[in-house]
Amino acid sequence: MTADLLLTGARLATMAGPAGLGVVENGMIAVAAGRIAWAGPRAEAPEIAAAERFDCAGRWVTPGLVDCHTHLVFAGNRADEFARRLAGESYADIARSGGGIAATVRATRAAEEAALLAASVKRLDALLAEGVTTVEIKSGYGLDEETELRQLRVARRLAEARPVSVAATYLGAHAVPPGGDRAAYLDLVCERMIPRIAAEGLADAVDVFQEGIAFRAEECKRVFVAARAAGLPVKSHADQLSDGGGAALAAAHGALSADHLEYTNADGAAAMARAGTVAVLLPGAFLMLNETRKPPIAAFRAAGTRMAVATDLNPGSSPIASPRVAATLACVLFGMTVDEVLRGFTIEAARALGRAERIGSIEAGKDADLAVWSVDTLSELVAQIGPSPLFMRLHNGVRA
Ligand code: NIG
Ligand code: FE
Repeated sequence: MTADLLLTGARLATMAGPAGLGVVENGMIAVAAGRIAWAGPRAEAPEIAAAERFDCAGRWVTPGLVDCHTHLVFAGNRADEFARRLAGESYADIARSGGGIAATVRATRAAEEAALLAASVKRLDALLAEGVTTVEIKSGYGLDEETELRQLRVARRLAEARPVSVAATYLGAHAVPPGGDRAAYLDLVCERMIPRIAAEGLADAVDVFQEGIAFRAEECKRVFVAARAAGLPVKSHADQLSDGGGAALAAAHGALSADHLEYTNADGAAAMARAGTVAVLLPGAFLMLNETRKPPIAAFRAAGTRMAVATDLNPGSSPIASPRVAATLACVLFGMTVDEVLRGFTIEAARALGRAERIGSIEAGKDADLAVWSVDTLSELVAQIGPSPLFMRLHNGVRA
């Protein structure tokens, strides 16, 4: 076998298999043409002629992290709302008074594409510094044709500006546009935007925010049907602030994931497991909104619902550009195990993007997206908040 690069002396957390970390001591990874050509224990390795070798000196290697839920393309910030919440207003109160998502919509509409790109690159760089190699990015801060398309174009351009894979998601159904008519807006989303975005390849999935302050079940259903008809998979912000049956609705439409899920009930968890809909847990939003109702982790475990974790990086509910902080919060606040969150930021997150065939584990044939960590144990990745222990990141086999 020939390889462009051979990593030796690595402790691998491959994430291969249905559960656990797939640990391989004294492992090797051969990279050829941007893919993993071989991975496993040195003792079982075939003859490999490598153009370049790199000794990991006992460091841990994981799949590159996958942040499967972000809203990182936006302008402005909402630090003023943080202060308002501290003074007693709720997230929903602020949204109803014209703040919240609507505030970011105003700032994003006013930002030119170059400015939006520059602001977004900074946030993306923070994720890359912690080993992210694939990031999902939602629109939803334009809520008009021109700005939604601009957000999606910026998401695509980020994949050219930096060595990272981007999954772009159209979240037109994030909120009713300020001053807009909800029926007319849903017509625009379903009849014009979704077909256009699908035809132009500007998004890889379609998302909705199903909530009292956003869209009702039947409205989300209409968006799901339009997206599937256009050949795009769907996702949902479900049951974040109330139990609206969002998890079950997403599952019924074959959603890749349902996200947030603080109020999801056991039936919803079981429906997700049956449909293969991944539960994406977002502890950053739970923390910053000072929520008390936790997602039903025990019900997900009992039902066999797959669980991912993500930053939800956005200017309002989760201004947290750190997958490691999100992972720590998922353990401390939601009671997830270290193994669950490590799978949740790799293979299960890949599944939540419909990309588990390409990324998320260290297995022959997958993209050579890898993170090499200067830690003695994998728990160290999660057990402390502070400087990034990332030693090296490879995206498509290239050190970057
Ligand atoms: O995932 N839940 C809805 N949407 C975002 C927050 C949007 C915002 O507050 O700007 C979320 O938390
Ligand atoms: Fe979100």
